[in-house]
Amino acid sequence: MIYSYTKTNFSDLYNDANWSFKDVNRSQTSYISHGYHRYPAKFIPQIVRKLIKKYTPTDGIVFDPFGGCGTTLVESKILGRKSIGYDINPVAKLITNAKTVAIEPEFLYRSWSKFLEDYNNKGSKNIYPEHSQKTNYWFDPHAIEQLDKIFFNIIDVPNYKIKNFYLCAFSNILKNSSKWLMSSIKPQVDPEKKSRPIFEIFSYQVLQMMKKNKLFYELLKEKGNLNVPARMYLRDSTKKFSIQDNYIDTVITSPPYVTSYEYADLHQLTTYWLADYKKHFPWWGNYADDFHAHRQKFVGTKYGAKIQLNGLMSETADSIIKDLNKNNSKYSRSVNKYFSDMSKSIKQIYRVLSPGGKLCMIIGNTSLTGIEIKNAEVAAEQMDNIGFDIVNVIKRELTNKMIAPFRDKTTGKFTNKSNPNSKRVYKYEYIIVAEKKFPN
Ligand SMILES: C[S@@+](CC[C@H](N)C(=O)[O-])C[C@H]1O[C@@H](n2cnc3c(N)ncnc32)[C@H](O)[C@@H]1O
Repeated sequence: MIYSYTKTNFSDLYNDANWSFKDVNRSQTSYISHGYHRYPAKFIPQIVRKLIKKYTPTDGIVFDPFGGCGTTLVESKILGRKSIGYDINPVAKLITNAKTVAIEPEFLYRSWSKFLEDYNNKGSKNIYPEHSQKTNYWFDPHAIEQLDKIFFNIIDVPNYKIKNFYLCAFSNILKNSSKWLMSSIKPQVDPEKKSRPIFEIFSYQVLQMMKKNKLFYELLKEKGNLNVPARMYLRDSTKKFSIQDNYIDTVITSPPYVTSYEYADLHQLTTYWLADYKKHFPWWGNYADDFHAHRQKFVGTKYGAKIQLNGLMSETADSIIKDLNKNNSKYSRSVNKYFSDMSKSIKQIYRVLSPGGKLCMIIGNTSLTGIEIKNAEVAAEQMDNIGFDIVNVIKRELTNKMIAPFRDKTTGKFTNKSNPNSKRVYKYEYIIVAEKKFPN
């Protein structure tokens, strides 16, 4: 170890203004394909870019084991680095497939004209599938009718890159088109919600994405990086990675936090919709048919956590679990499972990194039932115990709304500022930079 970060309370570190990106606005964080689809706890692309430039060789391979909607992959491609992403969420892969590919703008424009023509010419002849109970719960019959018509047209698109582009657009309009309460970070029906002109919403989404695609295409073309590989895989990052030892140059990642976002729940509209189209998307049924099993695989979930008997590789983690148990906290199992999953994942990251390679992990702390859950300190201790050198910990102030910063003091659940019982939790987060040592 170079400096004993494992003995430090990260909140005591100085706040590094160079990493706050206070001057970066929403249109900059959603530039090019970053703005295609909403996703909880997305990275600010500018942070990722800075980390890639600082820590990745120009011909290096970047890996994000909690890839989400692909921010690391998109930024890596722009900077000419090959990249790999893993995520357990099929919707994350669907989005990333679209976001990492820039389509020749004229070609895309012509495809859209054809789409409009087909949309207006057919429709009534199609035989739509019977929708599941879940889909019928979230969408009114008129919405389903319109969405089916759009979706049938997407299925018919012959070019897979363009098809992925439309699938991403379609997925992003599902919340708007459904009864989902838009401001909510958990699934909730909005009884006041009016029905919407769905084809107009879809067209608007596609046109916005087309503008962003053009900028993305031009940027990659100018840099000669149009064909730099960026591949997202559907994998569980607590299991053995299918990547050989010492293969990766840099890992840039932001893992989930314990009991914060339930990613499976939040993306269920897309999951259920694609599962309804079994004939065309047979594998999506695996998630929808056993949704309970699916969401239990997510790191940080509150669902179905069992006590893990393997060591958590961190004294801080052990003492947090003890404190939660003392308080009879209902979160004790979930937090135990979370720390255990994180240690498994960090071990795998260590294995696939090349000696001298860096792990950059962006992670914040929280509190549950009055106990501080030091995700960041625990992760650093786990890294240290697994064999990494912690070379830097950057404390950065959160200035944007990409993360929901308020929790209810009593329940520990996400809430908003207007709740008198709310408190701000994520004022800071940390970028832990750890290096895999060279063998002696
Ligand atoms: C904080 S988000 C990452 C967001 C990402 N940095 C971005 O900019 O889009 C954490 C991600 O971890 C994924 N995840 C949760 N459990 C996982 C697991 N067992 N294996 C792989 N990914 C997992 C979630 O689906 C989610 O996309």
